Amino acid sequence: LIGSVAGAQVQDMPGGPKVNQLNLHEGVTAISRDIMWLHWLLLTICIVIFIGVFGVMFYSIWAHRKSRGHKAATFHEHLGVEVAWTVIPFIIVIAMALPATKTVVAMKDTSSADLTIKVTGYQWKWGYEYLDGSAAGVKFLSTLATPRAQIENREPKGQFYLMEVDNHMVVPVDKKVRVVLTAADVIHSWMIPDFGVKQDAIPGFLRDAWFRADTPGIYRGQCAELCGKDHAFMPIVVEVLAQADYDKWVEDQKKKMAANADDPNKEWTEAELVARGEKVFAANCVACHQANGKGIPGSFPPLDGDKVVLGPQAAQINTVLKGKPGTAMAAFGGQLNDVEIAAVISYTRHAWSNAGKGQDPTVL
Ligand code: CUA
Repeated sequence: LIGSVAGAQVQDMPGGPKVNQLNLHEGVTAISRDIMWLHWLLLTICIVIFIGVFGVMFYSIWAHRKSRGHKAATFHEHLGVEVAWTVIPFIIVIAMALPATKTVVAMKDTSSADLTIKVTGYQWKWGYEYLDGSAAGVKFLSTLATPRAQIENREPKGQFYLMEVDNHMVVPVDKKVRVVLTAADVIHSWMIPDFGVKQDAIPGFLRDAWFRADTPGIYRGQCAELCGKDHAFMPIVVEVLAQADYDKWVEDQKKKMAANADDPNKEWTEAELVARGEKVFAANCVACHQANGKGIPGSFPPLDGDKVVLGPQAAQINTVLKGKPGTAMAAFGGQLNDVEIAAVISYTRHAWSNAGKGQDPTVL
């Protein structure tokens, strides 16, 4: 419908909402199907009550439309009526509460999981860290990868848009996956409709949720708690793989991490550190500060003042480690390792002293 109104070809997106979908996703977990079933149960009961109540009301208005001026009947107590309007709603409430409670209890039962993954919300990306099982130690950030201009200039406007991320969460099929959620700055919410999971990620707290996806595929969600400027650009992508494919992914991740790991005993040359820092900057800083360090006019100022001039090195290290209170600058102390922090500071000072705008070119 949306497609034909807009006169454009619109297709269902793999793992995304159907173009004409108005209802919930049925999903790929027992919980998401339970939620769908509960939704139909409650909707049906409510429609029946609605028709009953409004039917009597409209019937009365119509049947007695000529009864103007009649005296209202006055009577006290009618045991039958009182019993009926107490017992019937009681039965209805129980009929709704029993299955709903059962599902809520099942949703909260995160015991005996096959795999635990820590999920951290950042402004504005997700961090995933595999805590146990064969993937223990695998960790990465998951950031919007679709160019913003492509999203903002999409046609037709208002259509659901598939946003990709650089690294997505990968889990094995038919395994109970427990996600432990927290946040580094403000409250975010990790939501995958197809899993029946939506859990707030709250700074300073750990909350957990679980899912057992029974169909391989790519499933999508979105940060579901207003968390600032780029709240709409925190997509969540989870790929469910057959066990053998998952094992291969774990192996690849471990190889990739080993290849990228920083040897703590390595003596870095200035050029190596700057090159490394450029990558760290591109992965963590450009979203707000832009590649040229000049920020986004109106939203984020340049790194310092109205041109890119970096303050004393010690102050800069402090800002990177702890963030800047009262601004969107988050603390990166927990996100970047020591080499990455040294690298990104070296890179920024190098980049902007080379541009003739920085100061203290001897900091390297
Ligand atoms: Cu994170 Cu909204």
